[in-house]
Amino acid sequence: MIDRLNHVAIVVPDLDAAATIYRETLGARVSAAKDMPEHGVTTVFVELDNTKIELLHPLGSGSPIQNFLDKNPSGGMHHVCYEVTDIIEARDRLKAEGARVLGDGEPQIGAHDRPVLFLHPKDFCGTLVELEQI
Ligand code: CO
Repeated sequence: MIDRLNHVAIVVPDLDAAATIYRETLGARVSAAKDMPEHGVTTVFVELDNTKIELLHPLGSGSPIQNFLDKNPSGGMHHVCYEVTDIIEARDRLKAEGARVLGDGEPQIGAHDRPVLFLHPKDFCGTLVELEQI
């Protein structure tokens, strides 16, 4: 059901510092920062040949990742994103198997303007999983 790894997301306390680490220290291609007020985050994407790293920083009050940053003040891995060809089919299959889909269970439009869903970390080896329809 899942296909390629689309990205690994890392919450960071300082987006500019994190972008500099990836651009300068690690020598990667790094996008400009993009505010996503509807998701309460600012994102920077690190483009690798085989996948991406999504650097996330809270945007505004009530950001869904503020709590994560409070618990992990130096940042940390937040989620992994796998590609699926049909997100509704994937959701229905996972729900039938007892997995919990976060939110109202309806896909949202994610950082790449494609439908995404998040799955409960307790059902997936302690890792928050994002599914993105490609
Ligand atoms: Co993501």
